[in-house]
Amino acid sequence: MTLIAPSILAADFSRMGEAVKFCQKSGADWIHIDIMDGHFVPNLTMGPAMVKALRRETNLFFDVHLMVTNPENFFEPFAEAGADLLTFHIEVAPDPQENIDTIKKLGCQAGLSLNPDCPVEKVLPYLAQVDLVLLMSVFPGYGGQAFIEESYDRTRTISSYIKDNNLKCHLEVDGGINRETGPKLIAAGADVMVMGTAFFREKNPKDLIKVLKNT
Ligand code: DX5
Ligand code: ZN
Repeated sequence: MTLIAPSILAADFSRMGEAVKFCQKSGADWIHIDIMDGHFVPNLTMGPAMVKALRRETNLFFDVHLMVTNPENFFEPFAEAGADLLTFHIEVAPDPQENIDTIKKLGCQAGLSLNPDCPVEKVLPYLAQVDLVLLMSVFPGYGGQAFIEESYDRTRTISSYIKDNNLKCHLEVDGGINRETGPKLIAAGADVMVMGTAFFREKNPKDLIKVLKNT
């Protein structure tokens, strides 16, 4: 089953409470929350205080994507704020296994992400230990960027590895997903779709979710 995770980076920042309720009403499964530090990526977004405030507004699963240089400094604050899944980037993890263990000890699910220029082979050894792998299909930092076409092949490679090794790990893709790219990614083996711009600009978000979930 495909899970839909709208990214609230594309929502109206003055109305975040309403945005997460809107996602829930539209049939979303998760809320994707993009955390940026102005260092690992050029942009700044939000912190644990926002996650804590949103936790009161919805019971949807909080998928927290940490685009930060020292993710280990932030696992505990985001876990306490109500994150369900904490995803860190392999590019800034000297010891990914240590991060995975810390996240699990905090009672959260663990996710591992890779940028478009990171060889997929780097994450494969960790997929038996994580709950999710997050393949970036744009360079992280901003919403609304064009989907990178090579991401289909990268999705297929990771998906085959998950299937061949009988793993339970989710395969989430993030960046430039819409009515056109989403179905192709699902066919390539992805099972969690992050959608920012396409979801919040959509006239009929319920239909968009239904279409992707029935693909
Ligand atoms: C990019 C973020 C994405 C972003 C996706 O740095 O990690 O989650 O919000 O936005 P769209 O769907 O607009 O590409
Ligand atoms: Zn993201």
